[in-house]
Amino acid sequence: MMDRRSFLHGLSAAAIAISANAQSLTGSDAEAARQIAPIHDATPLRLGIIGPGSRGKELARSFLRVPGVRITAAADVYAPRFAELNQVCGYDVPSHADYRALLDRKDVDAVIVATPFGLHGEQVLAALHAEKHVYGEKTMAFTVEESAKIVQAATASPRIFQVGHQYRYSPWIRAALARVQQGEIGDVTHIIGYWHRNNSWRRPVPQPSLERLINWRLYNQWSLGLLAELGSHHMDIANWAFGATPTAALASGSICKYHDGRETDDNVQAVLSYPGGKRFIFSSITDNSQLGDQLWLYGTKGSLNLTLEDATFYYEPRQVTRVDPSHDGAAITSASYQASGEMPYRGPGHAVEVTTAEDPTSAATRAFIYCCRTGTHPIADVHVGYGSALCVIQSNQARLDRREVAVPPAL
Ligand SMILES: NC(=O)c1ccc[n+]([C@@H]2O[C@H](COP(=O)([O-])OP(=O)(O)OC[C@H]3O[C@@H](n4cnc5c(N)ncnc54)[C@H](O)[C@@H]3O)[C@@H](O)[C@H]2O)c1
Repeated sequence: MMDRRSFLHGLSAAAIAISANAQSLTGSDAEAARQIAPIHDATPLRLGIIGPGSRGKELARSFLRVPGVRITAAADVYAPRFAELNQVCGYDVPSHADYRALLDRKDVDAVIVATPFGLHGEQVLAALHAEKHVYGEKTMAFTVEESAKIVQAATASPRIFQVGHQYRYSPWIRAALARVQQGEIGDVTHIIGYWHRNNSWRRPVPQPSLERLINWRLYNQWSLGLLAELGSHHMDIANWAFGATPTAALASGSICKYHDGRETDDNVQAVLSYPGGKRFIFSSITDNSQLGDQLWLYGTKGSLNLTLEDATFYYEPRQVTRVDPSHDGAAITSASYQASGEMPYRGPGHAVEVTTAEDPTSAATRAFIYCCRTGTHPIADVHVGYGSALCVIQSNQARLDRREVAVPPAL
């Protein structure tokens, strides 16, 4: 079990007692570089895909770019998906209405689980039980208990389990966080994540009976709303940056724009408390996209802005103590209000330069294939998945209970 006290003294890599779980949370750069390197080996690897919907097809496209990969089976309860997947693959993929039939196939080495969130736990556990490698989309599982079972099953399995937290493979985020961990912006005590959009997230449905299947994100049965769908990525990055999982969660949300019968909130705010009094604050709204998707890491010496495309450092302006000559050289106190001292810092940012700005999903899928072929432990492993699942599930509990709830320790 992770020793939380070992994380109390900030981001300095040297200060962190590296347990196996701490290593999962912070990751190793040399290992990441190995896993995301271009692949020339074309040893056959046969993939089955459970839930070839929007994300599943995107993953299929990405996996098919890796030499030697072939999609040999698909499972979905909504038949039109099979023709869509065949289009992506350029050949007819054997299809099943029941995912268990896919797991029985001997020509499937690895399984992608890209179904609605509430189904991940059951399907990932069944796939691990069937001794397949598993690429399980985030959020890893719907309850703490299910998530813990996946940790247990993946740890006991000789196969690979990788969670769909592809930002762990993003070159600019990796490079920026390595610099933060070396102390470049001092002690980071607060991280703020915004994921603001201006759309309802409602998908058109061909017939009303399909509403809950197609718009599953809007209903409680399989969804924990924006906390899971968007927050899970930011919470994972906060865990990574702080090198820890939180101890407590607070959250709130409401439906303020889309009164269309949905059950999940169209805006949400969460505060996660980390060891040492550190905080991650998350906001997601769906009716204004001005802030877009970005994270700010605030340290005593500077700030780091992370987006889907880049990372930029800003350094704290030098504090100038002004002296009032009419008062025997006494320093002017804050009682002498100066707007300029409290204005947002708009100085030039220093962009993190990386040699490749590849889409993180491409890197993550290639890394998965590398791990399956070589038996290497993935960067976005089951502990990473568990950490972010804890944040999502307990934030959601706090939102429902309208009080702060404890977050169980990482496994
Ligand atoms: N990592 C990322 O950046 C990222 C991005 C988008 C989505 N996702 C995740 O991917 C998952 C899927 O999201 P999506 O937008 O593709 O949803 P989707 O609705 O487009 O696709 C889900 C598919 O699962 C199918 N399905 C439903 N029940 C099933 C069952 N019992 N057995 C087999 N198939 C079943 C649906 O018919 C559908 O085709 C979600 O967990 C989501 O959070 C991750």
